[in-house]
Amino acid sequence: MRSIIVSGPSRLSGSVCVPGAKNSVLPIFAASLLCAGTVTLHNVPRLSDVSAAAEIHAALGCTAVLAGHAAVLCADGMTACDIPHTLSAKMRSSVFYLAPLLIRTGRAALSAPGGCNLGPRPIDIHVDGLCAMGAQVVQEGGGASALVAPDGLHGTDYTLRFPSVGATETLLTAACAARGTTVLRGVAEEPEVVDLARFLRAAGADIAGEGTSRITVRGGRPLFGTEYTVCPDRIVAATVLCAAAGCGGEVIVDGCPAAQLEPLLTLLRRAGCVATTLGPRTAALSSDGVLHGLGLVQTGVYPGFPTDMAPLLGAALLRADGMTVIRDTIFSNRFACAAGFAELGANAAASGESLIVGGACALRAACVSSPDLRGGAALVIAAMMSEGESVVEDAQYIDRGYEDIAALFAPLGAQIETGCGCPCAV
Ligand code: UD1
Repeated sequence: MRSIIVSGPSRLSGSVCVPGAKNSVLPIFAASLLCAGTVTLHNVPRLSDVSAAAEIHAALGCTAVLAGHAAVLCADGMTACDIPHTLSAKMRSSVFYLAPLLIRTGRAALSAPGGCNLGPRPIDIHVDGLCAMGAQVVQEGGGASALVAPDGLHGTDYTLRFPSVGATETLLTAACAARGTTVLRGVAEEPEVVDLARFLRAAGADIAGEGTSRITVRGGRPLFGTEYTVCPDRIVAATVLCAAAGCGGEVIVDGCPAAQLEPLLTLLRRAGCVATTLGPRTAALSSDGVLHGLGLVQTGVYPGFPTDMAPLLGAALLRADGMTVIRDTIFSNRFACAAGFAELGANAAASGESLIVGGACALRAACVSSPDLRGGAALVIAAMMSEGESVVEDAQYIDRGYEDIAALFAPLGAQIETGCGCPCAV
């Protein structure tokens, strides 16, 4: 078990260049199975979920070579069509392999995808949409799904019952290989969906409308190997901004479209920070660490305030001089980090779909446990705001979305390092 050891309080100062996006690179890895020849990706973050994806490629008999921040993928020699349960259980993103396997082999079986415990995470929209393209379910239950499509997939006009990011990516990928035209309505508009569409277009697909609620794909065009640069990770950018807001300091976040950060920056301005955009991909934030409560904040699908940023904002507002209620209706267990906030001395509680934080108080060091990826990062922020040496255990959750969270914050002046084992138990 890995842990993060944080000596606080910190004041953060400096600039950060945003790495490639986890939520973009993972569906692109899976979609690369449909490309003939070699796909070379740049700006690939070195995350445990990316390593897990590379293991899935290897288990399928495909090549996935990670070198620095590049990945070279080739699926020409694919030999297997099943993802071993041990690998699908490692991450939610194993679901992205359902469509490519179905298309490549006519069948696809997936045992329950793993991932953070944010509440129930069904894959019914992925499956229902694939069935609208001609797939049939041959087994379902216990989170597992097996589909067949012996005659391949065909174009369709399909409306998602909810703009699921993952299901949009599954159906977008599938539509590229389906015969005829597919119209997907009510789709997710997140930047990572747009990035997947751009990758698929670079590989030869005919796609229009990504970034809106309706995507049209003229399918059946062969996809070829290509070279592509993964988009920046707006959630990592938000992590740095929230940390600086809560700790106090001046930071510049470079490389992420400022427009993608605007929902967060608007809230941080209301809380008392000075947040500006210095250019189309550069945001600057300064904070004296004394923030105001925001009342009710509601997460939403893009371009709303993202669910992934909710625990990070919650951490920034722990010492605010008024209360904030952050309501997330996308995941029922988004705020498991509330218990760790409370252990650090904060007035914080999760209630139903809401996180309630604030009411000025001093935070003190404690040993806390990461409940999930963004909740773990939020606890690191809270520990940087706390007096004394804190330990954030179960850092393996944080590794899923941050290359090295200690290395991200150390150049900004944080006293933070990674440790092995369980220092709290000693
Ligand atoms: C993706 C992101 C995750 C982010 C989330 C919402 C990746 C790898 N992960 O997750 O970081 O928090 O979008 O922005 O991109 N749902 C169903 N049936 C389905 C699919 C989803 O009921 O078939 C529900 C989910 O249970 C959840 C909601 O829809 O309550 C949103 O899920 P979705 O947008 O699909 O999120 P993910 O793709 O899992």
